[in-house]
Amino acid sequence: MTDKELFELAVKAAERSYSGYSSFRVGAALLAKNGQVYTGCNIENASYSLTNCAERTAVFKAVSEGCTDFEAIAVAGSSDDDFSKPCFPCGACLQVLSEFCGRGFKIVLADKAYSLQDFLPFTFKL
Ligand code: THU
Repeated sequence: MTDKELFELAVKAAERSYSGYSSFRVGAALLAKNGQVYTGCNIENASYSLTNCAERTAVFKAVSEGCTDFEAIAVAGSSDDDFSKPCFPCGACLQVLSEFCGRGFKIVLADKAYSLQDFLPFTFKL
């Protein structure tokens, strides 16, 4: 799976975004080491703070199905269906990713591929 293919799956996942409150669609495609891809979208709520980000939707889907070994995630976000600008993952999603992924874990955005370490050099650990 190329970075471009993974990113296209993230754009496709954004079509399912439930985001009537912010009108900001986000899709994520999480590539597991076994080749399986778990997609996710942001899911908003009338009680705003209960919103779940696309990245965490994808991670929680995967983990709840028994998969915890990941290689990369692609993230696509936009308020106007133009997904050509990078949509950087929020801090909460980075922390959730860090639970399962090492520093070299790849984060594919619209412009290029980054590593988890680029965005979260230090992570909270018990
Ligand atoms: N959002 C994500 O899905 N992922 C992020 O990393 C940051 C923000 C969503 C949450 C909310 O539905 C919308 O973007 C606007 O904040």
